[in-house]
Amino acid sequence: MPETTPRGLTRLAFGGDYNPEQWPEDVWREDVRLMREAGVTMVSVGIFSWALLEPAPGEYDFGWLDRVLDLLHEHGVRVDLGTPTAAPPAWFYRAHPEALPVTEQGVRHEFGSRAAICHSNADYRAAAAHITTRLAERYGDHPALALWHVHNEYGVPVSACYCDSCAAHFRRWLRAVHGTVDAVNEAWGTAFWGQHYTDLEQINPPRATPTVGNPAQALDYRRFADATMRENFVMERDVLHRLSPGVPVTTNFMTALSQCDSVDYWAWGREVDLVTNDHYLITDGRRTHVNLAMAADLTRSVAGGAPWILLEHSTSGVNWQPRNPAKAPGQMARNSLAHVARGSEGAMFFQWRQSRRGAEKFHSAMLPHGGTDTRVWREVVELGASLDALAPVRGTRTEADVAVLWDWHSWWAQNLAWRPSEDHDARERADTFYEVLYDRHLTVDFAHPEADLSRHPLVVVPALYLMTEAAGANLRGYVEGGGTLVVSYFSGIVDAHDAVHAGAHPGALRDVLGLTVEEFSPLLPGETVRLTRPDGPDLSGDVWTEFVVPRGAEPVWSYADGLTAGRPAVTRHRLGAGTAWYVSTRLGHEGLDAVLGRAAEDAGIAPRAELPRDVEVVRRSGTGGTYLFALNHTATDAKVPLETSGTELLTGERAAGRLAVPAGAVRVVRLDG
Ligand code: GAL
Repeated sequence: MPETTPRGLTRLAFGGDYNPEQWPEDVWREDVRLMREAGVTMVSVGIFSWALLEPAPGEYDFGWLDRVLDLLHEHGVRVDLGTPTAAPPAWFYRAHPEALPVTEQGVRHEFGSRAAICHSNADYRAAAAHITTRLAERYGDHPALALWHVHNEYGVPVSACYCDSCAAHFRRWLRAVHGTVDAVNEAWGTAFWGQHYTDLEQINPPRATPTVGNPAQALDYRRFADATMRENFVMERDVLHRLSPGVPVTTNFMTALSQCDSVDYWAWGREVDLVTNDHYLITDGRRTHVNLAMAADLTRSVAGGAPWILLEHSTSGVNWQPRNPAKAPGQMARNSLAHVARGSEGAMFFQWRQSRRGAEKFHSAMLPHGGTDTRVWREVVELGASLDALAPVRGTRTEADVAVLWDWHSWWAQNLAWRPSEDHDARERADTFYEVLYDRHLTVDFAHPEADLSRHPLVVVPALYLMTEAAGANLRGYVEGGGTLVVSYFSGIVDAHDAVHAGAHPGALRDVLGLTVEEFSPLLPGETVRLTRPDGPDLSGDVWTEFVVPRGAEPVWSYADGLTAGRPAVTRHRLGAGTAWYVSTRLGHEGLDAVLGRAAEDAGIAPRAELPRDVEVVRRSGTGGTYLFALNHTATDAKVPLETSGTELLTGERAAGRLAVPAGAVRVVRLDG
């Protein structure tokens, strides 16, 4: 299948959100001159421009955008053109105040920021279709047009609306998904607390209730809200496909788990022509390059392994966290090339020129307030040259060693109220498992629990509370066929409607793990348990323990204290040609590393101990060759072993034996052969 790339883009994507409407026209000439100087290849335009493009209903002012696109084209800059539907104008809301979204508490949001949208609202849908049609008619074959950028980051800042038109839409959705009111009663378990419905018309969104509401209703509402946003994306995409054939359509994702949790990117990945992603470093004291790698791997995975594009990140500090540190010298390039290593076909930024006004004036940009005599600008120009040198990697694919299972539906279910412990955090488990794999220098593909896993020798399940029987059967087939599986506690517990699988826990995984869990026994804050093993190191767990009953599995580590003392804590089950591990408590980095080390041995994955910590090595390969990316996130020069000689693309030097990667630097070697 030919890969989708922005039309006419022959280099890696390099540029940013370009908001010329914030500046007088004489600045635009300087912009394009400097874009050339920096080697900019593509910019994103018009994302929030609806109010200027359509100043009154049905009245259009395209003149300024015509001039911007022509100017960019003249200077050889390709355009990722936004449909401005994340920012309806003030006049629209005056006419249709009910298009503003309503919270669970019944409070209607106001106009005055952005993305205040009820996605069920018919007037919004009609107006969005209209402006998209007008843009596609006008620019659908503009020579600068490379890519359509629909909306902006669906799912943030409003992930769901609870108004009356959403209520009506939700009922239609329930009818389409479940068929009858009886089927809804069954799926939601409404016999509990007398929640039984006799007509679909009686059902509302899960608005504020005196105590916890029906969890299956809340879960279905998440699905509904996600599907509703996707309907609007598909509507715009289809307009663009019809009027602008041959130009790929995207919308910018935010796969970093903490940044947008309301969108099922597995489903969205199937709808876009090209996956694009936005990523911002979260300054919470953890290693930001690990979170970045994880987001990039997840993005590549929702793209089915195909190349994707990093559409936004920051040159330096952002402005929406409590404290927004600047990036260290070299960090911007390292961040950018880390995304490229993991499959991005370039690195773009929010934004080109730093704003003087508005809510984001303290957010860094490619061209800072201080202009070109700044460190950021010099690093931007340098990065442009590096990306130019890396053009040959286009079309190659990142090679992965391990699969980590991830499912947004499970995450949504997991985060509902009244669970055995509020200290168990599925996101934390995913992060920690990922970090251990990262520190073992293994590259991760994320996979949906029902996806084909056969090409991965090792599959890791950090916390997948919701798992269908089909997913359980999939994992069983995977292990029987020779795979190695590692599963964390509180996985495989409920079905798609948050109903506990029949029989003992973990219903979807009992067979493959060779055990049952009689009871969960979460720990209190600060409490820990010791795990021992006759021939190995002790481990320590916290947050969670379980009464595990082996039914075929062998205990490897057992609880040495606490309520579960004497019971198995970590088990191993030989099944068919493969092995399934189970970890029934929360292990820290070291403990998990010990278990994953054993599992990696079972999977035949050799340790990569010769690589120093925080020196990241990733490969991209394909018909265009094999490229080894080495990123040194440390303050010490490092050496990376090369299996064959090659040419380093950023310095042009030949490399063989051990590749020198200076502190903070990146090297990309095209391997010979
Ligand atoms: C993104 C958004 C951009 C800009 C940026 C600032 O989430 O798409 O428009 O707001 O954040 O970090």
